[in-house]
Amino acid sequence: MSITIGIPKEIKEKEKRIAMVPVLLDKLIKSGATINIEKDVGSFIYVDDISYKGAKVLEDAKRLYASSDVILKVQPPTEEEVHLMKDQTILISFLYPHNNLKLIKILLQKNISSFAMELIPRISRAQDMDALSSQATVAGYKAVLIAADNSRFFFPMLTTAAGSIRPAKVLVIGSGVAGLQAMATAKRLGAIVFGYDVRTETKEQVESLGAKFIDVKIKANGKGGYARELTKEEKEEQTVILAKHMAECDVVITTAGIPGKAAPKIITISNLEKMRSGSIIVDLMAESGGNCEMTSAGEVVKYKQVTIIGPLNICSSLPIPSSEMYAKNITNFLLLLLQNEKINFDFNDEILASSVVTHQGKIINSTINAQINAQIKEQFNIITS
Ligand code: NAI
Repeated sequence: MSITIGIPKEIKEKEKRIAMVPVLLDKLIKSGATINIEKDVGSFIYVDDISYKGAKVLEDAKRLYASSDVILKVQPPTEEEVHLMKDQTILISFLYPHNNLKLIKILLQKNISSFAMELIPRISRAQDMDALSSQATVAGYKAVLIAADNSRFFFPMLTTAAGSIRPAKVLVIGSGVAGLQAMATAKRLGAIVFGYDVRTETKEQVESLGAKFIDVKIKANGKGGYARELTKEEKEEQTVILAKHMAECDVVITTAGIPGKAAPKIITISNLEKMRSGSIIVDLMAESGGNCEMTSAGEVVKYKQVTIIGPLNICSSLPIPSSEMYAKNITNFLLLLLQNEKINFDFNDEILASSVVTHQGKIINSTINAQINAQIKEQFNIITS
């Protein structure tokens, strides 16, 4: 019997992305799968049910979950959604297991094989499955538009009969995927752009976009292409040097982080004190605590004459490209799992081994196990291996 893939509507408030777009269905159908969609699944991206050619449209989530072997989602499911799933369903979505221990417990109880999109390793073979990167691209772009929309100045230099207007200066802290996209976007809007990172290899990438690299002389290349945490002394040094640059900028976009760690506090109150009146900070790290000491997740706050914006789930504000890219990522991942019309749990494959969370009633991902095993055991009195 063929594998049935189900795509439910996202029910989290303000989530407008969706895990599948019509153009990719053919690939899945050709691999031998049948597809279920929940009625109106694509309404936020202006796609009607008829466009999902070859899919069966089910009236409600209850029916969809009850008749699907594989569930594709964007947001982690709610407990109610997991209860609607059949035992041994395969779930692929963002999961953030550390923050969702109660959910993990139910996934274990129902023998759900769950895979977390955010845990797919950033290796060349998995580039086309890298949902963190695809979504960060959207976030980097939109962060600049948010800054521009909240600013009381132009980004480009304008020479008019009424005189010349200077371009805005934009500093982007963190030159990963989101940061580089923010730099490219600010550049396209005509700003003078500066980029900063503690990984030395980013200098070339920053400069290739026409931005100027700020060299703080701290080198913190860590494992797996990520940065390492800075020492206390390095942090203090960083704050002092960046303060000088920030004092000359109109906009600061922050994207600096190390996966699984709280966001480093790079912008202190003393930095804010030195910034120009009317400056804007867009802190993409708001969800993990913020790169700025004053950031409040999901809020716009003021410190004297500086506005600090801590947007959450930016990608949902551009659901069409976010969904298109996410759907491509999840399809490529699923095609790795789907072999000869069957699900092939090959945990010798680095991509599957890194992204699996629960399987056959156990947490079999050693990294996650090490991180949350003790917590789970203690809080929920369950056994993992
Ligand atoms: P990434 O890992 O590619 O880039 C982060 C960069 O920060 C790296 O280049 C790293 O070297 C740098 N970094 C780390 N510590 C630093 C420090 N102390 N000083 C300077 N640079 C430092 O991550 P990516 O994909 O660019 O995403 C950036 C962040 O944006 C993620 O943490 C993600 O959670 C967030 N994000 C937020 C969204 C929102 O809606 N608010 C949406 C999507 C992503």
